[in-house]
Amino acid sequence: MLRATLLAAARSESIRGLVERTPLTRPVVKRFISGDDVDAAVATTGEVLADGRRVTLDHLGEDTRDAAQATATVDAYLDLLRRLDEAGHTDRAEVSVKLSAVGQFLPVDGEKTALENARRICEAAGAVGTTVTLDMEDHTTTDSTLGILRELRVDFPWVGAVLQAYLRRTEQDCRDLAHAGSRVRLCKGAYQEPESVAFQDKADVDLSYVRCLKVLMAGEGYPMVASHDPRLIAIAHDLASHRSADSYEFQMLYGIRPDEQRRIAAAGNRMRVYVPYGDEWYGYFMRRLAERPANVAFFLRSLVTT
Ligand code: FDA
Repeated sequence: MLRATLLAAARSESIRGLVERTPLTRPVVKRFISGDDVDAAVATTGEVLADGRRVTLDHLGEDTRDAAQATATVDAYLDLLRRLDEAGHTDRAEVSVKLSAVGQFLPVDGEKTALENARRICEAAGAVGTTVTLDMEDHTTTDSTLGILRELRVDFPWVGAVLQAYLRRTEQDCRDLAHAGSRVRLCKGAYQEPESVAFQDKADVDLSYVRCLKVLMAGEGYPMVASHDPRLIAIAHDLASHRSADSYEFQMLYGIRPDEQRRIAAAGNRMRVYVPYGDEWYGYFMRRLAERPANVAFFLRSLVTT
């Protein structure tokens, strides 16, 4: 119930204004977001890389209906990639892109624009020797995102994508993408989805995650295990026992279980941290609150005590 309310609020412009205008929100937001600008993003990247973890950076923003805004997002990624290159980070830091931030929802030629814009980011990433992973948004975008992935991979075969275990279709999508050269970031899924397309019970989502993980780990691609769930991480370790340590990786979000991130990396595993930055943090932040009721209590407490 709380999750559904928070996820509905994540898409409400009026609640957005309210939350963003409250200066007291800031200290809580800082737990999950690296900072407002590219300087903060590059500085956080340096800190994370320093203890053996890897990074994927997300320039925050989503659902744009404005072509100029989509272009500005592309420019921000090009700037970020240039800065990562200058800092010598591109061997272990890549970028994650939401197609809705680069034009997928534009009223005219949305998919075409998103493909062209994503292509520009891929060209820049390829030029500095790093990779791009496409985030996955709500289920209405899955076919479009996987279609754009296919197009991008013709020229940039290293482009990866996120699949969400809560969707009933995802086990089949994993089979389709478990081929050599493919990179799949498997997560549980963070949006409010109808029963017709998504498992609703946490236990069913977890079972689906394991089925998907089995397919990916048995396949020839590069699985990216994106979860903070200790049980799923243990299962992933078991399923990867026949694999070399450089043929898959674990991934977690910035600000969530950082000690566990370091422990997994120190044990000789690849561990990548998803680092979001920028001032369009509202939707991302609300999804993090929705994932864990304790975060809401933490948020409310800080409003009262700050
Ligand atoms: P679960 O929610 O069961 O959490 C397990 C444990 O992790 C909790 O008990 C708690 O200890 C800790 N935890 C989890 N979330 C927390 C939070 N917000 N705050 C504090 N502690 C928390 N989703 C999506 O729909 N599209 C996408 O593209 C992505 N991309 C993505 C990339 C990466 C690298 C990660 C790790 C996750 C995503 N997600 C995502 C989010 C994902 O779908 C999911 O909502 C969260 O990862 C939470 O699910 P867990 O697997 O961690 O399990």
